[in-house]
Amino acid sequence: MRIWGGLVAAATLAACAGLTAPAQAYGRDGHRIVCDLAYRYLSDEARTEVDRLIALDDEFDHFRDACSWADQVRGTTHRHTAPWHYINQTRDDPHIDPEDCAEDGCVTSAIDLHAGLFADRSRSDEERLEALKFLAHWMGDVHQPLHVSIEGDRGGNDIPVLWRGERFTNLHRVWDSEIILDHMGEEWPWAPEGERWSYLADALAAEIPLGGVDVYAPLDAIGWAQESHDIVRSRGFAYYWADAEQTIEPGDAYYRRALRISRDQLKQGGVRLAGLLNQLVEERAVAARTGGAPAASGALD
Ligand code: ADE
Ligand code: ZN
Ligand code: ZN
Repeated sequence: MRIWGGLVAAATLAACAGLTAPAQAYGRDGHRIVCDLAYRYLSDEARTEVDRLIALDDEFDHFRDACSWADQVRGTTHRHTAPWHYINQTRDDPHIDPEDCAEDGCVTSAIDLHAGLFADRSRSDEERLEALKFLAHWMGDVHQPLHVSIEGDRGGNDIPVLWRGERFTNLHRVWDSEIILDHMGEEWPWAPEGERWSYLADALAAEIPLGGVDVYAPLDAIGWAQESHDIVRSRGFAYYWADAEQTIEPGDAYYRRALRISRDQLKQGGVRLAGLLNQLVEERAVAARTGGAPAASGALD
């Protein structure tokens, strides 16, 4: 990767980068893939419950299609959820703690909140469907490394990038979308763009070891966030050392490394979402049998 140092060039490129809308969300394909992978690993009980709830939805026929809904509503009907898509850390503290969560909430508190609502036996189907759509989305976001980043540059949205010598964009968008889109375009150029995600999902699923849920599932929301944060702090990520004054020009070596990380994070997100939903559905079933309290807050213990 080369860093362009020239002030004039940097200013010009920063201005160009500003012309593209900031990517605020793990791209639609990223979320769809996480949920499609998760669906393959659901227990029979969890799949039945997910299908039952999604069947009640006015807008979506498939679980995987509902997983970007949280992005659709963050600027409209659910404005209070806008800060729940990420968690930011101060530069000098590498450890993610619950205290790092913004006062208005963050992605880790949102995972806990919606896991609790999904498991809560006293909630209506409508409330639990909404919680499911949010939870599935947050599990994608927490695995996009730049959704667990450093305060000040809006998760890399303010860091200009000339991506692979071809397109002006920003670092957040690279990790939300560009890496995955390039990969899919290179691997399955003959597939219609709108269907390429399914080829990537199949390829990733084929790499997940048998018993994948057990392999990837440990940790909790803070642990998942910490893994993402460790990635953004690594030197090769070109983020911690970057600033808005310099346009980053990642080359092929960066792309290849980033692709390995992105593919791993998608797999982790999918398998962990399945593990979490399986656990929550199981806890509800136990509570129903024993007449116990809803598994509201113990969801991620
Ligand atoms: N806005 C502020 N910080 C952000 C982040 N880490 N990810 C996405 N959007 C953000
Ligand atoms: Zn999001
Ligand atoms: Zn994003």
